[in-house]
Amino acid sequence: MTATSSMEIAVAVRPFGRLLAAQILPSCPRFRAPAAVGAFLVHGRRFSKRTVGSASSRIRAAVAPAKDEAGISDSRRLSTATGPLQPGGDRAFERIFVQGLAAVKPLVIELVEPERELLAEVMVEKEEEILERVVVKDAKERKETADEKEAWRLLKDAVVSYCGSAVGTVAANDPAAEALNYDQVFIRDFVPSALAFLLKGETEIVRNFLLHTLQLQSWEKTVDCYSPGQGLMPASFKVRSVPIDGRKDEVKEVLDPDFGESAIGRVAPVDSGLWWIILLRAYGKITGDYTLQERVDVQIGIQLILNLCLSDGFDMFPTLLVADGSCMIDRRMGIHGHPLEIQALFYCALRCSREMIVVNDGSRSLLSAVNKRLTALSFHIREYYWVDMKKINEIYRYKTEEYSQDATNKFNIYPEQIPSWLVDWIPEKGGYLIGNLQPAHMDFRFFSLGNLWAIISSLTTPRQAEDILNLMENKWEDFVGTMPLKICYPALENEEWRIITGSDPKNTPWSYHNGGSWPTLLWQFTLACIKMGRPELAQKAVDVAEKRLSDDQWPEYYDTPTARFIGKQSRLYQTWTIAGFLASKLLLQNPEMASIFTFEEDMELLEGCACSLMNHPRAKCSRRALKPQVLI
Ligand code: GLC
Repeated sequence: MTATSSMEIAVAVRPFGRLLAAQILPSCPRFRAPAAVGAFLVHGRRFSKRTVGSASSRIRAAVAPAKDEAGISDSRRLSTATGPLQPGGDRAFERIFVQGLAAVKPLVIELVEPERELLAEVMVEKEEEILERVVVKDAKERKETADEKEAWRLLKDAVVSYCGSAVGTVAANDPAAEALNYDQVFIRDFVPSALAFLLKGETEIVRNFLLHTLQLQSWEKTVDCYSPGQGLMPASFKVRSVPIDGRKDEVKEVLDPDFGESAIGRVAPVDSGLWWIILLRAYGKITGDYTLQERVDVQIGIQLILNLCLSDGFDMFPTLLVADGSCMIDRRMGIHGHPLEIQALFYCALRCSREMIVVNDGSRSLLSAVNKRLTALSFHIREYYWVDMKKINEIYRYKTEEYSQDATNKFNIYPEQIPSWLVDWIPEKGGYLIGNLQPAHMDFRFFSLGNLWAIISSLTTPRQAEDILNLMENKWEDFVGTMPLKICYPALENEEWRIITGSDPKNTPWSYHNGGSWPTLLWQFTLACIKMGRPELAQKAVDVAEKRLSDDQWPEYYDTPTARFIGKQSRLYQTWTIAGFLASKLLLQNPEMASIFTFEEDMELLEGCACSLMNHPRAKCSRRALKPQVLI
């Protein structure tokens, strides 16, 4: 990925926006303490206000938010996009959102020095508590291997500081390669770093990351003359030193986000907001510090992301419609439309939000929209994305051109689309979720991240989840080979590669996003295996990775069908490779910690599903109506 050179003029962030933001966003902001929302009953779970304790009572709340020179009262108002926040939107939840939250200015609570110290003490106590729970077990039971020690040293070297606090990790620290934007903190790349730090009891970097990226969400963003949605989270950010006006030789640090306006291909970071929500829940679960997610500004952040995802369009499906390259695969790879990776992260983020959104009059409608979408999404994916031997045989015998509500072949799939590789490859036992589904189009490629998050979030049925792992075990050479884990299988070759990737020289067959092997996928595989009670499968993959990663200098990705070569243009010392390895090891030592990311089946959500399956839209829903195909 390359940053735009200053000579390039096609896409630019409006200079005024940047300047304004640099002025309003304090260069080194004062610590803002949580302003929790009054009500704490969140989706049937009562939140405890146990963290800050006595410190919070001593915090002086400045009801009026900090003002800039122009009298604009908080950084959230930087954005010029007004759409969903304007009263009178058609959607009920938008209206309620406006009444319930937009009217409430986030409280800015300034800490005076002794209180800041007190809060710091509380944070230290919290970290010690986690250390007790997690790290001590690790230390008592086993010693770190040399590879793990090296990995921790490298991960710490990758930490980025902003105004003296750790706020993230750079994507890579490869001294031999041009930095491009690998010297930035990518939202998606930071998640395994966050997990490793959380499991080690180092929680502050994660908290800082969550709060700073939240501030960036409100930036005014412009691509040519167009402003993307207000809730968009950046793909990445960088800490820059800028001169202070009127003060010779003095500089201050500012955070400079990239919302895709500099990224190659101008890809939209659709996954960033979803990852942010997923990490926010994990942080709360492991630290017990729920005051962070209860803060008004954090609640607004969640709702802005959801507003973007849940807004009405021309869609016929509950899946999110996105452009190519809007996730980990951030280049043209024929994954535009309804790619599985986005759907699985979307489902997971909705489930996280359902737990975290504070229930009040302003959020009730949004929660109802979340519930409805969850039901529709899980039904759609379980029913239409799933393939196994039996389903492929059904597709093989599909009739086409069916015009009716009861069509069997709803998407008018021509059986000729079944690729020849699949016919021989699909085992009797096992199955998976296909990569994408559109009218007359099924992308039969297996995408690992989407399948793994579908397991982790319980987007699949328990039986489907088991079958995905069965398939991966059965096809070990294809998925793991000499390095876990293939990003997708199989690679696009020949004409397909030419047409679908546009002859991309970086995505040649079995390289990079086109069938390359990415060690960072290991932590997600580990989560899925632990959730399904098969940690030994994850251990087997970790053992394979451990044989090579350190010797190979922690590459970003590997090439060839069995991952024998270090990737052609792969960075070395790639942070999410290092962090993914550490997180996997820590998870295997503390498997109960997987629950900070996982979800179990939710029967309430399935009730809606059952009615759809019965094909009687007006049929009364009852638990007894649940059909086996939705449940198992
Ligand atoms: C590559 C990957 C992307 C990652 C970035 C930084 O562009 O495709 O997923 O976030 O590098 O590591």
